[in-house]
Amino acid sequence: MDFSQETFRNLVNRSSDMIESWYSEKIRGKKIYENKSPAEIQKIFQIAEKNEGLNPEEVLNHLDKNLIKYSNFNPSPNYYGYITGSGNQIGILGEFLKGALNQNNLKWHSAPANTEIEKISVEWISKFIGYHNKKSAGVFVSGGSVANLMNIAIMRKMKGSDSIREEGIYKNKIMRIYVSEESHSSIDKAMDMLGLGINNLIKIKVDKDFKLDTDLLKEKIIEDINNNFLPIGVIGTAGTTNTGSIDPLNNIAKICEEFSLWFMVDAAYGGPAASLNSLKKKFEGLKKADSILINPHKWLFIPFEVACVIVKNKEHMKNTFSIVPEYLQGGTDKEERDDLMNYSIQLSKDFKALKVWMTIKTFGYEKIKKSIKKDIQMAQYAYSIVEQDPLFTPLHYPDLSIFCFKYNSNSLNVSDSLLNKKITEMIEVDGRVFLSGTKINNENVLRINCVNHRREKKDINFLFKVLKEIGEKAIKELEDN
Ligand SMILES: Cc1ncc(COP(=O)(O)O)c(C=O)c1O
Repeated sequence: MDFSQETFRNLVNRSSDMIESWYSEKIRGKKIYENKSPAEIQKIFQIAEKNEGLNPEEVLNHLDKNLIKYSNFNPSPNYYGYITGSGNQIGILGEFLKGALNQNNLKWHSAPANTEIEKISVEWISKFIGYHNKKSAGVFVSGGSVANLMNIAIMRKMKGSDSIREEGIYKNKIMRIYVSEESHSSIDKAMDMLGLGINNLIKIKVDKDFKLDTDLLKEKIIEDINNNFLPIGVIGTAGTTNTGSIDPLNNIAKICEEFSLWFMVDAAYGGPAASLNSLKKKFEGLKKADSILINPHKWLFIPFEVACVIVKNKEHMKNTFSIVPEYLQGGTDKEERDDLMNYSIQLSKDFKALKVWMTIKTFGYEKIKKSIKKDIQMAQYAYSIVEQDPLFTPLHYPDLSIFCFKYNSNSLNVSDSLLNKKITEMIEVDGRVFLSGTKINNENVLRINCVNHRREKKDINFLFKVLKEIGEKAIKELEDN
């Protein structure tokens, strides 16, 4: 199946031309989203059941014409959806090189450079956010959802009965874990998948700043102990998905210590901001966590996919994930070799660390921090616009790079919630900018995620120009119906 040397070189060049043109022409293109239907996209990319192969130039021609058109081009600063990172250009090259090398990072000897580069990169990240000690270690996985699943599996193993591996959870009292009601849904999923049950994830109310209320947390733990449940851990969120709020980590750490609970921090999104001096106080307590997760594919600007699970004590991870059958015993005779399969759910694993390492090496400590800081400034700039414009109401001050606000309805017949839902839908059809919207206190609101090192004030100004245009149309449409 290999091509001639010349054909391969031409194909590589052609692909890099495509990539280069996306970045030179589309970053601030007219639209980032075309709003096509699933059927339209199926038609363009369909493959016949017994298809004949095409020559690779034709495949690339097809992609050149269609791929970006039918995608959502989230490297653009006009993309504000979910908590999607912008990626960075050296990271793209990392993905490209990684594919060519095709390393399988299951064991040290199957991917020597990969294993060591992963360890170096995880250590750098741990130090960057102030979560490092001699025993700490971690691994890269696909995303925050898998990282939450792994972290809760570690918590369950360390705080449940000794026979969990052999007997499952049945030898325990009912185990309970505590989070704020603003925590991420992947934690609920993990509770379900690990057999702990979603009803045993106790959602503690948040205060007016969307942070977990630690008085209520303590009350609930005591109540559960009195009712014969087994509290095993608390998960603080350092950067919630809705508003970027940071739970009072230090107070949570103290409560965990008092009741001998596992302290885990979901820093999937906010973690990188712990590197900023201005935010050190808000992240105080992070280093006391028994385990954390942080997603380089969000706020370290690395292209998808890469998240990171880090534990205070490497042995806890090994106790949870290491099972070595005969066919995986090769190459284990050298003690200094660490097989990453012993620390992860995954066996076969790609070389995610390359793009992380290349990003860190290329941009360095200060530039990465500066980009994180700039994203926060962009969210705060949006706040200043909203605060001064009677058309809008801010719903919180953005400590991090996420900001929620609403467009005020000036019509007696149209509620704010309905209007903001309509605006989010119309923005999607319009395609010049992309927002994903959310609900705060059960009302639809507008939400912007400013993780993107390419974003400038002019982009935020453009966003508000589009929002005002669409907001006016949305009110008219709702009133006419
Ligand atoms: C706080 C938090 N935890 C976990 C996740 C899940 O991460 P992923 O989308 O990488 O699975 C997210 C995603 O936005 C998040 O914001």
